[in-house]
Amino acid sequence: MVLRRLVLASAVAALSAFSFAAQAQAPIVIKFSHVVAPDTPKGKGAQRFKELAEQRTNGRVKVELYPNSQLYKDKEEMEALQLGSVQMLAPSLAKFGPLGVKEFEVFDLPFLFKDTDAFRAVTEGQLGADLFKKLEPKGIKGLAYWDNGFHIMSANKPLHNVADFKGLKMRIQSSKVLDAQMRALGAIPQVMAFSELYQALQSGVVDGTEGVPSNFYTQKIFEVQKHMTMSNHGHLAYAVIVNKKFWDGLPADIRTTLEGAVKDATTYANAIASTENASALQGIKASGKTTIYTPTPAEINEWKKALMPVHKEMTARVGKATVEAAYKEAGFVAPK
Ligand code: LMR
Repeated sequence: MVLRRLVLASAVAALSAFSFAAQAQAPIVIKFSHVVAPDTPKGKGAQRFKELAEQRTNGRVKVELYPNSQLYKDKEEMEALQLGSVQMLAPSLAKFGPLGVKEFEVFDLPFLFKDTDAFRAVTEGQLGADLFKKLEPKGIKGLAYWDNGFHIMSANKPLHNVADFKGLKMRIQSSKVLDAQMRALGAIPQVMAFSELYQALQSGVVDGTEGVPSNFYTQKIFEVQKHMTMSNHGHLAYAVIVNKKFWDGLPADIRTTLEGAVKDATTYANAIASTENASALQGIKASGKTTIYTPTPAEINEWKKALMPVHKEMTARVGKATVEAAYKEAGFVAPK
């Protein structure tokens, strides 16, 4: 009896020593959730981060990727990050309003950026850093900005002139600036999660949308939209963000290594954005299902004329100082 108890006790001790050792060696898991396909600039950037993070920490960190809204849709993923159910996200800058950080919507002002360099000047400048500071009281830390190029428009009718938008129901991200933009064109904006877009277009819940070619291609939006217009009126980009408590609680050497992995994944994601979108556009053309129209300079001027009042209208929401800083860093000159 005594012997049996002794054997049992030592077995229990051995088991708990084993589980302690296993725990000590268990990798730190980073759940990285996002809403787009793996084969997009964001999906590929996330994959690169995973590879670099796991290699450089010798497996002490494991990054689990959850693309295509597999875990959470747009709004839910922000909440999940704050609760610590996931540790990392890369939502578009147009999705920070519901979090109460409206300043991010400055990036949605129509025709704000004349090119990618103008956008990068803002994210890599003082404003980019200042906006990240505004996330900290929300329990979120901003690590990097990832570019995904310029928005184009789509519908089942050609969109050449402003009048073509009249009465169209257009899906938008949650930004109030995008809401004002669609109204200024005469359309009816409808906020909707990205994961619901295809079905909503297919069933006619909405008539059209704005988006980037890499998303239009990978979500097969070209199957349910007959016409696209290369308006380049807006810009899509992401903030790579983490749960602040989780990040600050990491061992310092791990955190430094992960910061390096984010930096290099950022360089990669930003380097592929324009070529990925160009080849997605080729894929859409090759499908033969959608016309792709390039507006004339006169048509673009007409769009600009209709959309510039949105800047003034939205300044109170986004904040005057934020708008002015963005103008300065982007080298924005209001069209005459
Ligand atoms: C959208 O909702 O249209 C985009 O933000 C999706 C994305 O993450 O590219």
